[in-house]
Amino acid sequence: MTIELRSDNAASVSPSILEAMAAANSGSALAYGGDEVTARLEEHVREVFEHPTARVFPVLSGTAANALSLSALTPPWGAVVCHESAHILTSEGGATSLLSAGAVMTGVAGEGYKVAAPALRTHLDGVRWGDPHHSQPSVLSLTSPSDHGTVYSAAEISELAAIARERGLRVHLDGARFANAVVATGSAPADLTWRAGVDVLSLGATKNGALSAEAIVCFTDGPADELVYRTKRSGHVTSKMRYQSAQLIAYLTDDLWLRNARNANERMGELAAGLESLGIELVARPAVNMVFVRLDPLLADALEAAGVLFYRLDGLARFVTSWQTSADDIATALAAVRSALG
Ligand SMILES: Cc1ncc(COP(=O)(O)O)c(C=O)c1O
Repeated sequence: MTIELRSDNAASVSPSILEAMAAANSGSALAYGGDEVTARLEEHVREVFEHPTARVFPVLSGTAANALSLSALTPPWGAVVCHESAHILTSEGGATSLLSAGAVMTGVAGEGYKVAAPALRTHLDGVRWGDPHHSQPSVLSLTSPSDHGTVYSAAEISELAAIARERGLRVHLDGARFANAVVATGSAPADLTWRAGVDVLSLGATKNGALSAEAIVCFTDGPADELVYRTKRSGHVTSKMRYQSAQLIAYLTDDLWLRNARNANERMGELAAGLESLGIELVARPAVNMVFVRLDPLLADALEAAGVLFYRLDGLARFVTSWQTSADDIATALAAVRSALG
């Protein structure tokens, strides 16, 4: 018996998404996104985001979504300002620098793994604007949920975007787990993105039930016009795009994305409450489907021996639930903790 709590990436594909791929799997269709399924995807995204001119680019990974989005928002001499823990800075091997032909990423501080407004102001005040010896901040990239499971409210995104805009920066949102943030905040997708000042969203789907299908959603035309070329040059205009588009349509249809995320968030709520009631210290109460806890190493060993799968990161244990995690999985994991403690 194993209980999968390492990562939502370890979960399998949602049955409705596989069914949508099977349904798209008949006859022939124009390649490279010229098919009618891909044409319909844009309509779905426009409806869900209440934005009549949003444009969509399916890509194969979250790293590609981020690096391509940012490459269309910054010149090569630019700096992407983000939280010091942001995935783009710590965990993507410099993909943004590669695809932007040299832009750097600059981390700023903030509680809860979120950019703090005063830290952003101080950082931008300290920049040597117009000095070619220094990278010029050109885009603010926020991550919600963060890699530590915290989320920005719509008001927080608006405040940070306004500070960025005062200085001429554009705004990107890394939404690798965007559905979990929508469920956690209860805010409309539009309120967490373009209405708050976001220009481009990396809309994740793979962690929440899709198969290597993510989307870049542009709310302004400038970056979209560039992405037509940038996606091709980086190998993300796939010949059989209809299968990615079919997945993304299924993902956004009948609230599948939100139902999957709600399951993951709720199971995490049960796990976190259970761990706390057993005296385990949570680093922070989870807003979405991820929690970091302090675990005695012997207890961690015992849990692993009992088949509970999780990651050990920076001296902490990380547990992540997914669309697939069941209430029974959580009960079993908590029983294993109880027995290891006993
Ligand atoms: C917040 C965040 N952004 C981006 C990514 C990158 O996604 P991928 O692994 O599909 O490249 C991840 C993956 O873990 C992530 O957690």
